Amino acid sequence: MSDGRIVILTGAGLSAESGLGTFRDKDGLWTKYDLGEVATPEGFAADPAKVHGFYNARRRNAREAAPNPAHEALARLVNARPQMVTLITQNVDDLLERAGARGVIHMHGELMRAKCAACGANWEQREDMTPGDPCGSCGAPAIRPDIVWFGEYPYHMEAIWDLLRAADLFVAIGTSGQVYPAAAFVQDAARAGADTLELNLEDTEVSHDFAQTRRGAASQLVPAWVAEILGE
Ligand code: OAD
Repeated sequence: MSDGRIVILTGAGLSAESGLGTFRDKDGLWTKYDLGEVATPEGFAADPAKVHGFYNARRRNAREAAPNPAHEALARLVNARPQMVTLITQNVDDLLERAGARGVIHMHGELMRAKCAACGANWEQREDMTPGDPCGSCGAPAIRPDIVWFGEYPYHMEAIWDLLRAADLFVAIGTSGQVYPAAAFVQDAARAGADTLELNLEDTEVSHDFAQTRRGAASQLVPAWVAEILGE
């Protein structure tokens, strides 16, 4: 199995030990903020300053955070086998890239990018955003974070379905299995014949769908698993 095609899905648990909050754990972001107000198109239309404030704070936290051993191990794996290993992340931080990983698929968008709500142009923006900032392409005062909000369609789905259909092994790391379509990837991959492995601190909503599960902190579990795959 270690020589086959591996598709890895990561979630907030991967970045938790870098100091970035998860969403649904005790003290998670969705216990402090109203998801409908800060992570939906309707919330943005009602109060763009509040939404920009939420993502500006998260962008600053992400800039100050550093990759942990789990990001570094995944970067080592994907760079060692770029044709065979794909990293799909629900995370909007750039810690996998800062660990050196190439070709990461960000299905929920990226904190360090902005998008124009008028023309769709998107560009790198590592600094704060303010309602009314002009689009660099069309000039409309319609800047928004390049984040996939609830009610919007995740990015790169056609490519992701193809990858899942071709996978020999699907691995989910640090994700609670509560947000679709990502939560169904384990079933999609298993239906197509892949082996499945979940690495997480605790049982999740979808643990029963995995052939194997390992419990522990990502910073411990992921480097150990990567070493197995690379035969170290
Ligand atoms: P959640 O907060 O829902 O789940 C985080 C998972 O990580 C939980 O199952 C934890 O048990 C686990 N976990 C926490 N710390 C860990 C650690 N150190 N090592 C291993 N596992 C750990 O986050 P996601 O599943 O990523 O979407 O959430 C999915 C989506 O919901 C996010 O992308 C975001 C959110 O709303 C958008 O904002 C669009």
